[in-house]
Amino acid sequence: MALLKIARMGNPVLRTRAAEVADPTAPWVRRLVADMIETMADAGGTGIAAPQVHAPHRIVVFEVGGERITDVPGDGEQELTVLINPVVEPVGDERVLGWEGCLSVPGLRGVVPRYLRVRYRGVGLDGETIAREAAGFHARVVQHECDHLDGILYPQRITDHRMLGFVEELQRHPLDVAELLAGTEVA
Ligand code: NI
Repeated sequence: MALLKIARMGNPVLRTRAAEVADPTAPWVRRLVADMIETMADAGGTGIAAPQVHAPHRIVVFEVGGERITDVPGDGEQELTVLINPVVEPVGDERVLGWEGCLSVPGLRGVVPRYLRVRYRGVGLDGETIAREAAGFHARVVQHECDHLDGILYPQRITDHRMLGFVEELQRHPLDVAELLAGTEVA
């Protein structure tokens, strides 16, 4: 296993559509995933997508810890999940705002609109299909990670860029999202 170098915003690998994995059970996939998990844990991330480690393949890894889940029904802890060739679709059209960061956009946080509920399916390392519905933070993580496979970073999803900032500044000057949005249409 090895720690991999994380690509940062501006690197072309992060704006390229990643390729389908022909054989999810291939040994190289298992090795790459092991390194992605090690890299994610070392960097303190909750998810990572293969393009973030310069591997342009449709593979994501994520976990949802109990401290991050919302009170939205259907949100919940998720053990470490490996999804290969994932497909995500919204359930309903309700969107919600929430904070996101990204290992490829270090030092920043932003408030991003995402679908409240999604269903997703993909294949695990054993070649078995994984199909789930997700809500709240779980749904947000999946949308964020799978966006990476289509070359999309969270700042591209932000609709109000007043809600993007450096973590250090936001800690010193907490952002009142409700106040900022007063009188603003949220799309
Ligand atoms: Ni990310």
